[in-house]
Amino acid sequence: MTRFLVALFLCFWAFSPLLNCMSAEITCAGTVRMRNRPDVISISDFGGVGDGRTLNTYAFREAIYRIEHLSRKGGTLLYIPPGIWLTGSFNLTSHMTLYLAKDAVIRATQDTSSWPLIAPLPSYGRGRERPGGRYMSFIHGDGIHDVIITGENGTIDGQGDVWWNMWRQGSLQFTRPNLIELMHSRDIIISNVVFRNSPFWNIHPVYCSNVVIRYVTILAPYDSPNTDGIDPDSSLNVCIEDCYIATGDDLVAVKSGWDEYGIAYNRPSYGITIRRLRGSTSFAGIAIGSETSGGIENVLVENVSLSNVGIGIHLKTNIGRGGIIRNITVTDIYMDNARKGIRIAGDVGDHPDNKFNPNALPIVDGVVLKNIWGSNVQQAGSMQGLKNSPFTRICLSNINFGGVSSGIPWKCGDITGAALRVSPSPCPELTSTHGTGFCSVSS
Ligand SMILES: *[C@@H]1O[C@H](CO)[C@@H](O)[C@H](O)[C@H]1NC(C)=O
Ligand SMILES: *[C@@H]1O[C@H](CO)[C@@H](O)[C@H](O)[C@H]1NC(C)=O
Repeated sequence: MTRFLVALFLCFWAFSPLLNCMSAEITCAGTVRMRNRPDVISISDFGGVGDGRTLNTYAFREAIYRIEHLSRKGGTLLYIPPGIWLTGSFNLTSHMTLYLAKDAVIRATQDTSSWPLIAPLPSYGRGRERPGGRYMSFIHGDGIHDVIITGENGTIDGQGDVWWNMWRQGSLQFTRPNLIELMHSRDIIISNVVFRNSPFWNIHPVYCSNVVIRYVTILAPYDSPNTDGIDPDSSLNVCIEDCYIATGDDLVAVKSGWDEYGIAYNRPSYGITIRRLRGSTSFAGIAIGSETSGGIENVLVENVSLSNVGIGIHLKTNIGRGGIIRNITVTDIYMDNARKGIRIAGDVGDHPDNKFNPNALPIVDGVVLKNIWGSNVQQAGSMQGLKNSPFTRICLSNINFGGVSSGIPWKCGDITGAALRVSPSPCPELTSTHGTGFCSVSS
């Protein structure tokens, strides 16, 4: 009952139609509670000017400092009024709500020369694209809890084109900044915000728990490099729902660290729910990996609708990764116009350095892909495990890529499992006419 009331309250809070909410009985609502803050301040109280030209870095830092040191019980809401609020990167703090009014834009400065650098993530050992440290995310949080980023669908704009051009020209000195990164943090809600033109990955919760991301729109040009939508990384209990994402890389990619650094840090992603997502990209709709060294377990993906995608569902890892990928369920997926429906591969992604252990082979076990429909899918899929670590209990059930016109069949190797009601006909490795414990038509 309490749970129902909380859900109902959240429905009103998010201004969505009541009926809609009641029919969608499963939501993230139980994971983290939305809060009203008794204390409200505005960025204008700190000298902020929303004219799109004035640099507001100092105002943001002052406002956050005030929340950190003078907040009342129950926390503080930082109100961002309509306007364009240009700023350098800043840190969030605990017990705060960053609230963007309708037509409020928090816009990142393009002055890359003064962008702060921070240490590499321990589970990566270095920046993801350049050795050494990395640029701090535009909006950053480390070791914080009870944080909400929400409002009336205002925009967080990374103005990433300067960074994309540095990447294209090979002139990047360090790894590009994420738009938002939260490290070692818990009880986070990100809802009703639009993210635009991230320099690199958009939303990166890493070493976090209890994270809810819903009613979020993420946009970047289809050719903007590495603009992943949401990358839950070595995190526990992450729920992503009701989002629209159209970017230049994977829409959602669940990760857990890179080769020997990820193996040593040993922090899995566990309990990840992704549902009611729509989007397009020339990369993957939903990805697991390719950084999977801490392990990825108990992932549920459901009700995803993709149009114009490179690969619908992509599970990717590599030798040197180690880690266990287990209990992944992907169900009720629709894709229109895809280069490839499903890909499972053990040879994807680069290595941080040549110190990776070639004997650290990933284990992939228990992957259920069911109720998947595609139209205009050029190739149904490929599933290639590793010779010395075959991927096991791979289940394809009730899959129809009716529009496979070029007739490129499934390609498989070093995998075992079952396939039930799959069209076009699955590869012999998976052919099975009856259900098994881990693979049936109904479950
Ligand atoms: C923001 O956080 C980073 C990383 O935790 C830290 O290095 C930096 O000093 C912080 N900046 C401010 C202005 O507090
Ligand atoms: C904000 O965007 C979400 C997701 O697209 C949508 O459901 C909601 O109605 C919008 N809210 C407002 C106040 O515009």
